[in-house]
Amino acid sequence: MQSTWPARDLLNVAIIMDGNGRWATRRGLPRSAGHRAGADAVRRVIEAAPELGIGTLTLFAFSSDNWRRPIEEVHALMWLLRAFLRSETKRFIESGARLTVIGRRDRLTARLRTEIRRVERATAGGNKLNVRVALDYSARESIVRAAARLQPGVDASVETFDRILAESLSDAPVTGGIDLLIRSGGEKRLSDFLLWECAYAELVFSDRMWPDFDRDELRSAVEEFHRRERRFGGLGVEAAAAASAGAG
Ligand code: IPE
Ligand code: IPE
Ligand code: MG
Repeated sequence: MQSTWPARDLLNVAIIMDGNGRWATRRGLPRSAGHRAGADAVRRVIEAAPELGIGTLTLFAFSSDNWRRPIEEVHALMWLLRAFLRSETKRFIESGARLTVIGRRDRLTARLRTEIRRVERATAGGNKLNVRVALDYSARESIVRAAARLQPGVDASVETFDRILAESLSDAPVTGGIDLLIRSGGEKRLSDFLLWECAYAELVFSDRMWPDFDRDELRSAVEEFHRRERRFGGLGVEAAAAASAGAG
């Protein structure tokens, strides 16, 4: 059941939710106000995702490098995350969203860990949208940890490693790679997010700060994705037709 859910024809989308701090600073507000406003944008994209053909949505909420921020900001973020998980559980269940958290848990507070386990259990039956929240997450660390699980002597194919990595990340494993990676906030970098899974992801960068991100912005990113031609190293439709015409 797990390997076929979400269905393969649904999109596997990931979002680097960046720009909360700048959004707040530009308004003369503390950065934490930007993170609070960012939580509303999270609600909006989760609500809009299923109707846009998205089956899995992985949201970068806190990177392992974000511990470098001032302690007050880290505390505010952790507090908000816990409040978000608590207040959204009912909505997740009603909308059929399954929520899991990917990333390290040993550096989170016991209260946050408890809240995460509670939400994961409460939403485990959700089958409309697979939401993965990346928390204390580092792609490089996740790859190193998964690599340590490889059995010595076992054929280490890309497919095997893909599965091991997905299983080591969450109880709702998603294999097969990210289709579309969106980053808000105007920066054009990956910041150690899903490096393995994004091997052939289409990248869409939005200049909107995350608190201003809404359903229309998500829709336009998905539309942009559908306009792209994915080649996976092969030939595009036109080049393939020209090649076969030439061969004939
Ligand atoms: C993204 O917004 C949220 C987190 C990294 C937790 P930022 O806080 O990075 O906002 P900017 O990039 O400073 O504007
Ligand atoms: C990436 O944003 C992490 C999250 C959005 C949670 P950052 O703001 O931490 O990334 P850098 O530091 O600009 O690369
Ligand atoms: Mg940032």
